[in-house]
This record gives sequence, C-alpha cells and structure tokens, in this order.
Amino acid sequence: MPFTLKSKTALITGSGRGIGRAIAEKLAAAGAAVMINDLDAGPAGEAASAIRTAGGRVEHLAGDITRPDFPQKLVDATIAAFGSLDIIVNNAGYTWDSVIQKTTDEQFQAMLDIHIVAPFRVLRAASTFIREAAKREIGEGRRVMRKVVNITSIAGIDGNPGQAGYSSGKAGVIGLTRTMAKEWGRYNVNVNCVGFGLIETRLTQPLTGEGASIDVKGHHIPVGVQPKVLESVKAICPLGRPGTVEEAASAVLFFCSPLSDYVTGEVLICGGGLHF
Ligand SMILES: NC(=O)c1ccc[n+]([C@@H]2O[C@H](COP(=O)([O-])OP(=O)(O)OC[C@H]3O[C@@H](n4cnc5c(N)ncnc54)[C@H](O)[C@@H]3O)[C@@H](O)[C@H]2O)c1
Repeated sequence: MPFTLKSKTALITGSGRGIGRAIAEKLAAAGAAVMINDLDAGPAGEAASAIRTAGGRVEHLAGDITRPDFPQKLVDATIAAFGSLDIIVNNAGYTWDSVIQKTTDEQFQAMLDIHIVAPFRVLRAASTFIREAAKREIGEGRRVMRKVVNITSIAGIDGNPGQAGYSSGKAGVIGLTRTMAKEWGRYNVNVNCVGFGLIETRLTQPLTGEGASIDVKGHHIPVGVQPKVLESVKAICPLGRPGTVEEAASAVLFFCSPLSDYVTGEVLICGGGLHF
C-alpha cells in the first residue's frame, strides 16, 4: 500500500448501507478513524459494529442530514470523538423520481435538500475547524492535506428522464465542489466529486412494488429502477455489468488518499464507461 490514513479522521454521511458503508470500511481498513452517519439507526449501528469487530476505530451518529441543525452536531461529534476532521464524504442520497408534470414542489425541493443543501451545510459546519487547523499547520511550516469528496451521478452530468430533481441536485453539487476547491485550496483541502453510473445497491434494485423504500418527512418513497430500464442500461454499459459497492468505494478512496494530493475541483466518473 503506497499510503496509510492512520492519522486521519473521516466523516461519511449515509454510511449505514450501500456505497457509503463500503467507503467507511475501506477508509477504516486504510487506518482512518471513521464517523458513520445514517438516517436509519439500525444500519448505522451495524456498520459501526462491523468496522469495530474488524479492528477499526469508529463511532456512529444516526440522524437526518437534511435537518438544518444536524450537520453541525455531526461535525462537532466527530471532532469530539477523534480530535480531528480530515476527510469528509458527502454521500447520503436517494432518488424520488417522477416525470416533471407529476413532480411536486416538495419532491423537487427534497432532492435539492439532500444532494446540495446538506453537503453545503456539512462543509460550512466544518469550515471553522478546517481553517483554524490549516492556519496552525501552515504557520508551523507543515503541509497537511485534507479531503472532501462529494458524491454525484451520471444523471447530474447527462440528465435522465424522470429525474428532474435528482439530476438537478447532482449537477448542483458539482458547482459546490468546484467553488470549494477554489475557496479551500489555500487551506490545503482537495475538493472533488465522484459520480457513479449503475452500482448495485437498493437504489438500483428492480422496482417491483415490494422492494426497498425510504421514509422521509412522512413520505414512504419506493427506491429502485424499472426492470426494463435496468436491462437497457446494462446493455449500453461498455463493461456490460453494474459495479459493486467495493468498486465504487475504490474510486472514492483515491480522492481520500495522498495519491490525489494534486487533484482538485474534478469529477471522476466511476460507471464502467456508462453514460446516459
Ligand atoms: N447506486 C447507484 O447506482 C448510484 C448511482 C449514482 C449515484 N449514487 C449516489 O451514491 C450515494 C449512495 O447511494 P447508494 O446507492 O449507496 O444508496 P443506499 O440507499 O444503499 O445508501 C444511501 C444511504 O444514505 C442514507 N440516507 C438517505 N437520506 C439520508 C438523510 N437525510 N440523512 C442521513 N442519511 C441518509 C440512507 O438511509 C442509506 O443508508 C447517493 O448519493 C446516491 O445518489 C448511487
């Protein structure tokens, strides 16, 4: 391994299951202390126990990242638990799809809240710690790189029918990423995006009516993809298959590691070559 994350602390939102959990496991295996967060307390606790059992340093805080006061609580809890904050992965997300004529204001806003507003609030909440730490380190003549990885999607880059809200949120977070790369370069923070194509999680299970769902603000939202769409997407994907959560997490690990110390404001697509 050309690097270790032993002295680093990572915060990963939406890491109770799916890609976020795989990211947390990979960062912990590379030596980082990790803070798990998820809307659902059960999966958050299970993800933390699994990492602890494997010998990792881990804490968890369940809670809705779209609640205005929660990002600051999560950042403060991470710093209180581990004394630092070096890697932030804004991963929490879900889909709430409809063609535009059936999309309500609340639905569209929910997609912006989870995919842009929450990452903005997490970074704002972390800004005091990051600026003060960087000024101290620079004053001591040390260059300590910190990492922000925001998760986007090929839907945000290419557009996707039925996803006006989701694709707008996922496009918006790219703007946030590029701006923060410019604002925080002076503090030695690399800010990048990883965008996924089709990765095997509950978000991309065939939508059968009996599949997974997410409960948000009193709404029970089924998540998944129409089986026909799933087949056609697999057929046009150059690698001919969906990716695994481990493959998705590997792309994120690159941006969390010293291997990417001179890369900032970029979007890496991890999608087997798939574009819509
Ligand atoms: N799976 C894919 O093919 C794919 C493709 C493109 C982008 N993405 C993005 O990757 C990220 C991870 O998705 P996934 O496929 O692992 O989905 P997932 O549903 O398996 O995991 C997402 C996790 O985020 C949590 N979450 C959702 N809303 C939250 C909130 N308000 N506060 C805290 N936690 C919350 C969920 O409870 C869940 O555990 C998302 O941002 C998603 O949009 C996934």
